Amino acid sequence: MSALSELYEEIALCHQCELAKYRTRVVPGEGAENAEVMFIGEAPGWHEDQQGRPFVGPAGLYLDQLLTSISLKREQVYIANVIKCRPLANRDPLPTEISNCRKWLERQIELIHPKMIVTLGRYSMAMFFPGKSISKIHGTAQKRDNVIYYAMYHPAAALHQQSLRQVIEADMIKIPSLLAEAKNIPEAKAQPQQLTMFEV
Ligand code: URA
Repeated sequence: MSALSELYEEIALCHQCELAKYRTRVVPGEGAENAEVMFIGEAPGWHEDQQGRPFVGPAGLYLDQLLTSISLKREQVYIANVIKCRPLANRDPLPTEISNCRKWLERQIELIHPKMIVTLGRYSMAMFFPGKSISKIHGTAQKRDNVIYYAMYHPAAALHQQSLRQVIEADMIKIPSLLAEAKNIPEAKAQPQQLTMFEV
């Protein structure tokens, strides 16, 4: 069994918070073990809770379209959430739930070892860009320890607010060049100031 499947089994046994009582299925995440890009959303919704898979409802269909716009299939990337169980009535995750679940996401990142982490929405942004505001930093990247961190609005936000659609679509299409630019730069020289497209 792969390390990732073993991790999924461990996550499925987690009962650290109340959310475990109400879940239909746990939603650990899915995608390629060798994915270069990892997308991190907020929490499973109703559809995800039913199927045990991330981003399979309306926001997920839109995420699939966004991936298609940069010629990626969901099987080529890795998709996870900050928390692995659905909050009842799709309420916002609580700080304790986020901190309880943090270890799972950290282990996923360790195993996938992505070149780029794309945060979708403010909960995952807060983990990697603490204290920042999404309206200011969406569409900008930072490179730390050879990983590119890139913040985007949540696809569900763009579904609810038409004006965000163009923004999220424009932010998505910057991903391939950011990735290519980062990959062309030898490790020793990968300083943020040398990456023209990166915010420092
Ligand atoms: N929204 C999320 O943040 N994650 C999902 O998996 C689905 C909707």
